[in-house]
Amino acid sequence: MTTVTSSSNLTESRRARALVTGGAGFIGSHLAEHLLAHGYDVTVLDNLSTGRTDNVRQLASHPRFRCVVDSVANEAVVDQLVSECDVVFHLGAAVGVELVLQDPLRVFETNVLGSHCLLRAAARYQRKVLVASTSEIYGKSDRVPFREDDDRLLGPTTAARWSYSASKALDEFLALAYHRAQDLPIVIFRLFNTVGPRQTGRYGMVIPRLVQQALRGEPLTIYGDGQQTRCFCDVVDAVRAIIGLANCPAALGQVFNVGSTTEVSILELARRILLLTDESTGSSPGGVPGTSWKARESSRSAGISPARENRTLAGETPAFPGLPLSDDSAVHFGEPTTTATPWEERIRLVPYDRAYGPGFEDLRRRVPDTTRIKTTLGWEPRISLDETLRRVVAFYRSGEASAPSPAANSMPA
Ligand SMILES: NC(=O)c1ccc[n+]([C@@H]2O[C@H](COP(=O)([O-])OP(=O)(O)OC[C@H]3O[C@@H](n4cnc5c(N)ncnc54)[C@H](O)[C@@H]3O)[C@@H](O)[C@H]2O)c1
Repeated sequence: MTTVTSSSNLTESRRARALVTGGAGFIGSHLAEHLLAHGYDVTVLDNLSTGRTDNVRQLASHPRFRCVVDSVANEAVVDQLVSECDVVFHLGAAVGVELVLQDPLRVFETNVLGSHCLLRAAARYQRKVLVASTSEIYGKSDRVPFREDDDRLLGPTTAARWSYSASKALDEFLALAYHRAQDLPIVIFRLFNTVGPRQTGRYGMVIPRLVQQALRGEPLTIYGDGQQTRCFCDVVDAVRAIIGLANCPAALGQVFNVGSTTEVSILELARRILLLTDESTGSSPGGVPGTSWKARESSRSAGISPARENRTLAGETPAFPGLPLSDDSAVHFGEPTTTATPWEERIRLVPYDRAYGPGFEDLRRRVPDTTRIKTTLGWEPRISLDETLRRVVAFYRSGEASAPSPAANSMPA
């Protein structure tokens, strides 16, 4: 066990003591910050596989903070840390579609074996556990909005893509089983797309990837036709929900969706990112703020010739007929139309099978039904997508995201 930063002995403290697994990650680091600000002693347990010490560097000198670099699957370490805390926030996980496809074994080692190790220790010491789950649980069901008790619809086991969903479902089953069989106080929160500063674009997360491309002046690559929608919730709102659930006795033993219910297409997201990044550099993206791209697209597409539409790949529907549908090397399948606006020319559509391999299935819509958390806690998201995007742009502009992470470099891959 490597302690990167340590403070006073937490076992001597009378304050509430929180253990945050995955606390050097995107959401975990915001959660750790919030807990410290609200008087908790905070221990982060993270193996820095996708997390970064830079995410918690601002907390390092805090007298009530320590960061332990190790795995949630290390029984001895987990036993000790769980015994020393009052509440566990379990966010440590192999996350992200690209990572899951690249390293399918890591999903099970962390998300299943690691979670089991943690829950066993929590049961031993009867510690409350808040378990992070995901909207991926609902699989490819199209019955939106998703309610917590809805049926799940998954693809075959031969498609690695579904292993993340299955592993998180096992976490939920395990946590609920410990609750029923051993009275372990648990709460499960299913996060839908959660976004904000410190999220990395390395593993396929759309907002950091598009913001970085926009800031570098590169084309924005969108997987699929861009008409798939997502609901983006600011990490600050998500953290407020998680803390609220931790402090709510009525939440025990239950599962809660946590997310925004406002849908935005990925194309619209790209347009807003271009507007915001160009706004701050003073250039014009050619977009029209407040105008639905769908309305503009349908009025423009009336003038597109079938010949031009036929120049896209067979079986694929271009979002902007005549505009490039390309792979990462930005191969163009036709010249831009004369009616194309500058922002549309800066979008590159990448077919899913080129991005993720043959047979990849994405979900068209992923909308949470948040009635349960609204009724139980009165929780609703407060932060708009544009406000979040401004903070993400500022984060990447500041250069914080690219700062090296020495502890991460010394860790095994
Ligand atoms: N960001 C989202 O939109 C989203 C959506 C649904 C669910 N979630 C869940 O929220 C949690 C946090 O995700 P995030 O977006 O902050 O991703 P993240 O990758 O930034 O955080 C995950 C953290 O877990 C750590 N980790 C991985 N394996 C570990 C191990 N064996 N031992 C200890 N730590 C380990 C990583 O280093 C990283 O710091 C995850 O459980 C994820 O499944 C996130």
